[in-house]
Amino acid sequence: MKYPKLFSPIALSPACVLKNRIVKTGQSTWRWNQDGSAQDSAGEDLYENIARGGAAAVIIGGCAIEDTPGIYLGLWDDKFIPGLRHLADKVHKYDCRIFAQFHHSGPAAWPRLGALPISSSSLGLDEIPMKPPLANPCREMTLEEIREKQRQIVEACVRADQGGFDGMEIHVAHGYLLNSFVSRVWNHRTDEYGAQNVENRTRIVREIFEEARRRCRPGFVLGVRMNGREYGADGAITLEEAVENARAFEAMGAQFINVAGYGYGEAPFRYCPDYFPYPDPEDFMKPYMEAYRGKGLWTDSASRIKKAVSVPVITAGRMNEDLAEKILEDGDADIIGIGRGLWADPEMPRKILEGRPEDIVRCTRCASCEDPVTQPRICRVNPSLGREKEMDMSPAATKKKVMVIGGGPAGMEAARVAALRGHEVTLYEKTGALGGRIRLASMIKGCEVENVMPIYDYLTTQLRKIAVTVKLNTTVTRELVLREKPDAVVIAASSEYAIPEIPGIHSSKVFTIKGLSRLAALPLRLFGPELLAKLSHIFLPVGKRVVVLGGQIEGVQGAVFLKKRGRDVTIVEEGENWGAGIPERYFQRIGPWFRRKNIRVLTGTKAEEITKEGVRVRSADGKVSVLSCDSVMVLMPQVASHAFAESLKSVIGEVHEIGSALGADNGLLKHALHDGRAVGCRI
Ligand SMILES: Cc1cc2nc3c(=O)[nH]c(=O)nc-3n(C[C@H](O)[C@H](O)[C@H](O)COP(=O)(O)O)c2cc1C
Ligand code: SF4
Repeated sequence: MKYPKLFSPIALSPACVLKNRIVKTGQSTWRWNQDGSAQDSAGEDLYENIARGGAAAVIIGGCAIEDTPGIYLGLWDDKFIPGLRHLADKVHKYDCRIFAQFHHSGPAAWPRLGALPISSSSLGLDEIPMKPPLANPCREMTLEEIREKQRQIVEACVRADQGGFDGMEIHVAHGYLLNSFVSRVWNHRTDEYGAQNVENRTRIVREIFEEARRRCRPGFVLGVRMNGREYGADGAITLEEAVENARAFEAMGAQFINVAGYGYGEAPFRYCPDYFPYPDPEDFMKPYMEAYRGKGLWTDSASRIKKAVSVPVITAGRMNEDLAEKILEDGDADIIGIGRGLWADPEMPRKILEGRPEDIVRCTRCASCEDPVTQPRICRVNPSLGREKEMDMSPAATKKKVMVIGGGPAGMEAARVAALRGHEVTLYEKTGALGGRIRLASMIKGCEVENVMPIYDYLTTQLRKIAVTVKLNTTVTRELVLREKPDAVVIAASSEYAIPEIPGIHSSKVFTIKGLSRLAALPLRLFGPELLAKLSHIFLPVGKRVVVLGGQIEGVQGAVFLKKRGRDVTIVEEGENWGAGIPERYFQRIGPWFRRKNIRVLTGTKAEEITKEGVRVRSADGKVSVLSCDSVMVLMPQVASHAFAESLKSVIGEVHEIGSALGADNGLLKHALHDGRAVGCRI
């Protein structure tokens, strides 16, 4: 077997043995019933699917200990116990263990009805380590409030136990309630719950453990999730403090320790250990780039903590099977936590075990699952996440002949799913290669943080495996459709990108997305996006001063790319807002980076003419000026044309338009894959 360590069992207690080392880490899904119950909810389907996929345990993040705004799994009332049992039974069917992780946001909670969120200490706006809404001015909990929260957490443990769960992960990590006691970033108390020493700062957790242990079955496992390190704030937990905390948690009875981390600051990475290098890491994160590129940001701390305790230690963050096996082999951790990877592909463990890595859909680290944070989670590469029943891929009742037009991600996904369901599918692509503009996008985005190429590799491999007929270099006309007589046509061809019809637009200093695609097509195929991105630091046929027309995702990502290659960049955007299409997490980081790098974004500004000197623009108040530049990049969104679809509707029974065929609002990869999957399931 290729991954002997990863697929070896491990015991958390004599009664709780994990069949392998892969554990789904807690992630709030917002997929429960509106009242917080589990039974027959989308959340239940989601976790059953992950259990079926072969993980040894799932940790259900986002379980509320009190009635909380948002869609959390309810643990605050006995009425939830039957639903918990229903969920636990579904997960247990697959020899998968189920743990709850209670959630209380503490200082990260939204202020409710004007009341400040609670925390270990009172902190004002100028004292909190992140700006609202990620953290808020907060007020110190009284001793009575501490008792009340402890009581609620213990009650939640008891209900999880009575609901058939195998255990509870006590959430002492991230920037939430219990972490506000163990971290000196938050805890300025001077009483016995203060951060003066390890005994005091972990006291609140110890008292919870003592009471929960007394009230739950002996076999009910109690573990801890903790920050192995914090970054970017005064008083941030150091590794030495974390080791002390871990020893204290073990002494109070923790049966496993799940090591995470947390980033504060102007554009905080918070609990995801991988968005911080985009566009550049802050100075305080630069020392951690080696760990990031190696075994992951948190494995370093997990490894040190593992040496200090004897209970199993979990590490997480951008794990794949090779890295996981190495970490286990080297003794850096005992269990591998996977969060987003199991959203991207719930069947990942089974596919690894069966030696089918090419069938795994990899997380592309796009941050769409948090865009925005307060909504039912979606996954860009797994549109079925949380919609397992809705997007059912079971065989079609009637086999149909299907023409899919456009070999970009939307067309490939539609063809894949329709063929899997038993249809006779032909995929037509007018150029000589599948993938649409995915290689160009990958080169511009870079591959270190967000990485879109694995989805291309996955889709092309699957099309080969399922034997979908692919016709390259074939432009589909109405005549061809009429000759083929399909039952259904899916139009997934990319719409044209907008180009302003202004004087000078056809001059040689102007680059369009279409032109760039043509220019880069061969080098991209020869070198691949990653190498070409590196080579473009040495040679890029673009002048020193660049004006980018278009301030939405295309223009902004283009501007980052150009700035990193030493160009002076100004963005001109006609609308009032910029950055549409960029997930919140990335956008939060781009704004400060643009300021540091002097990238100007002129919103409400219209380009009127491109001259030898530069671009003549008119601002919203009518002021005309010339932006001197050597090159102009037109990086504007797409504009849909429905003419072809309309021309087919009278002669073909089913005509579907998907992805960027529908224009800018549907032009992102997440739309492409969603639409492809949805139409593939529907035909
Ligand atoms: C949308 C989202 C929600 C999350 N919610 C939680 C949570 O409720 N509790 C928790 O401990 N971690 C949470 N995390 C962190 C994950 O458990 C995990 O540690 C992190 O994503 C890194 O692992 P990964 O690279 O495998 O995703 C969340 C992460 C994401 C992306
Ligand atoms: S939405 Fe993006 S970051 Fe989140 S799990 Fe899916 S691919 Fe990964």
